[in-house]
Order: sequence, then structure tokens, then C-alpha cells
Amino acid sequence: MNKVLIIGSGGREHALAWKLARECEVHALPGNPGIEEIGQCHPGDVADLAEVARLARNIAADLVLVGPENPLLEGLADVLRSEGLVCFGPGKREALLEGSKAFAKELMVEAGVPTAWGRVCRSFSEGEEAVQTLHQMGKRPVVKASGAALGKGVTVCNDLREALLALERTMVELEFGEAGRTVVVEERLEGREFSLLTVCSGEAYWSLPVAQDYKRAEDGDRGPNTGGMGSVSPTPWVTEDLVREAEEKIVAPILRALSQRGLDYRGVLFSGLMVQDGEVFCLEYNVRFGDPETQSVVARLGDGFYELLLETGRGGRPQPIGERPEAAVTVVLTSGGYPGAYAKGLPIVVPSEVPSDTILFHAGTARRDGDLVTAGGRVFGATGLGPTVQEARRRAYKLADLVQFDGKRFRSDIGAYED
Ligand code: AMP
Ligand code: GLY
Repeated sequence: MNKVLIIGSGGREHALAWKLARECEVHALPGNPGIEEIGQCHPGDVADLAEVARLARNIAADLVLVGPENPLLEGLADVLRSEGLVCFGPGKREALLEGSKAFAKELMVEAGVPTAWGRVCRSFSEGEEAVQTLHQMGKRPVVKASGAALGKGVTVCNDLREALLALERTMVELEFGEAGRTVVVEERLEGREFSLLTVCSGEAYWSLPVAQDYKRAEDGDRGPNTGGMGSVSPTPWVTEDLVREAEEKIVAPILRALSQRGLDYRGVLFSGLMVQDGEVFCLEYNVRFGDPETQSVVARLGDGFYELLLETGRGGRPQPIGERPEAAVTVVLTSGGYPGAYAKGLPIVVPSEVPSDTILFHAGTARRDGDLVTAGGRVFGATGLGPTVQEARRRAYKLADLVQFDGKRFRSDIGAYED
């Protein structure tokens, strides 16, 4: 049987493992208790690239699938490929699309990708000048640390004063570390966001079903930003035409620009998009699957996911696979206090059998003396499938109610569309 080695330990990785376990033998480094039920987890440090390659060779993995961005930014895909292993995930130079917002912005502009007006600033005074320029244009600024900042590092500002404070914190106080030495200052756009996950090989691509993520901690999109509190796929307000437009204006040109630089992108390109006045803009690229978008997206995929990833990893054209007609909604169950400080090691009770048309994805869980305990901010993703978003949502919440741990919190409006 074919073997896949999945790198990572979150809800995204459990979802990928759940999907692939129907088609091949699943191994994970380090994995989590959910993955352990359907595959084999190997202890180890994903930051040790040589160790990852050794494991892949030892288990004779046919494919290595990398979940989080950090190993990709460090060059894991290059190390694996140099040893003749097949990896789904871009190399270090391609991964700069996520690792450097300055590089991404410059390439977007070069490629003609619609994106907010912006400036790459390498000193505080350049940053000041950029926010002043936006202010004079009557626009509100966004200040982004250029480097990898664990999903933080972006400050969406209401006015000039907030932008100057954000610049100070990012560039001078280095609140996001070295990532903030260079910033991108850009115009704040207004609109609705969605995520497009596109499987890419060179300039060839095929997009997975669209999804939407809920980034804010509280209902009604209030409260602090988080890693993601839930997801929906498909997104009712995103039309087929809008997806084609995004592919043509945002995915294809950036792949062409990479290719013109001699780069060969092999993996998933995650475009974070905003629709303002009917026009689609690119807010950011990520070089990996989204979390928790992936939980809802893979629940809706037909057969052939393993072959799709394998062929793409080998440099072949991504071959489209089927899509189930159902909608999927994922509700993320978090530890009390998240995204701030929270307790770990709290006992968890999960139902021995989940209701039909639901899947419980583990994210921040661990085994302690055999018992399941909390081990992270985002603890589970409760996914429901149904003929409509409303029905999928009802099932996801039914499952969310059945899981118990002290301090359990979740948003109550995931997938609740007013229109
Ligand atoms: P990013 O990491 O660049 O996607 O930024 C994180 C979040 O900040 C996005 O999902 C948006 O909600 C918000 N954001 C980023 N750029 C902009 C922008 N130009 N205008 C408005 N909101 C933005
Ligand atoms: N859901 C957003 C992310 O994965 O970055």
C-alpha cells in the first residue's frame, strides 16, 4: 500500500490524514491523538530537517505532505527532493511568498495582481512616510511585519495615530521579533474575505472547493484575531465566476512570475482574498493548507486526493478530483482564554461515537497516562456535513455540544449567513 508521511500536529493535519487514510497508509510526524487512531505517529522534531528526511526514508514514504509553513520556510521540501523523495509543498525560495510579505507584495505588483496599494518599508522613517501618504489619500492603513510572525504581525488601523503606534511596536519595539524589521504598509480595504486553496505545479493549477475562515474570537467578527475559529465550504456568496476571476487575476499571474524567475511551485497556494465593491483583491499568499479551512474542504472532496498530491509532488499537472455536493461547516472548540493565556492538561470527554455526518478533528489534544487532555488553544474542530450550509451547521454544533472539557469555548455564528 502507498505510504504518506504527514508533517505537523494540528487540526489541518488530522483532516488531511482522515482524507488520505481511505486511500493509503498514513504516518505522521509528530501527529496527534486523532491521527493516532487512523495512522502511525512518530515522535520527533519537525524543525530537524535531516531527521524528517531520515524518517521518510526509513518508512519508505511514497509522499511527504508538509502541513505547517515553518518547515517549508526552512527548506524541508528542498532537502527531501535532493534525496529523491517526493514532497508536496514548495521549496524555500517559493515559500518566500508567505515568509516575506515584502517579496510577496513586490511580486504581486510586478505580476499585475490586484492588491491593496502598498509600500515596502525598511526603516521607521520610510514607514512613517507611507502611512502619511495613505492619510493624505484619505485611506486607512494596515501595517504588516514582513517576516513570518505565526499568523500575527498584521495591524489593521483606523487612523494615522494607530498606524504610527503599530509602526513603533512592529519596527522599533520588535513586538513580532525580527519579522518586523521590514514592514509592508498598505491601504485598508473593506469587504468580505474568502480563502482559495489551489493545488499548483509550475504554472499548472487546480483549485479545491472554496472556503471561508472566521478569524475573530467573538461572534459577529468581534474580539481579537485568532488562528481561526471555524470554516465553511462552499461559501454561499462566492460564485463560480468569482473563483475563475481569482484564478485568472491572482493565481495564474503569480505562478507565471515565479516561473519566470526559474522557480517551480509544487504544493498548495493559499490565496487570502477580499472582495471590495465586486472586485477581488489579494491580501496575502500562504504556501500551505489553511487551518481550519482544510477541515471543511477535505470533508467535501471525492476520491483521488492521494494521487492528486503525489502527481503534483512529482511535478505533474494537478488532475481535478470530484467534489461532494454537501456543504461542510467546522466549529473550532478552544481552551478558555484563547487567543490569550489558557490552561493545558485538562481532561477531555469525547463521545464514543460521533453523530452521523460529523467528524471530530483533533488539534490541541494530547495523551497523558492514556487519558485525553487539552494541549493547545484550538483543541478540536467539529465538522458537520449536510445538504445545505444550515444543516451542516446544525450537525457541527450538535457534535460541538457533545465534547466536554473545562473552559470549552466556541463561536455560535459559524456558517450563519444572513443572506
Ligand atoms: P494577512 O496575514 O495578510 O492575511 O492579514 C491577516 C488579516 O488581516 C486578513 O485576513 C484581513 O482580515 C486583515 N487584512 C490584511 N490586509 C488587509 C487589508 N489590506 N485591508 C483590510 N484588512 C486586511
Ligand atoms: N485560516 C488561516 C490560516 O491558515 O492562515
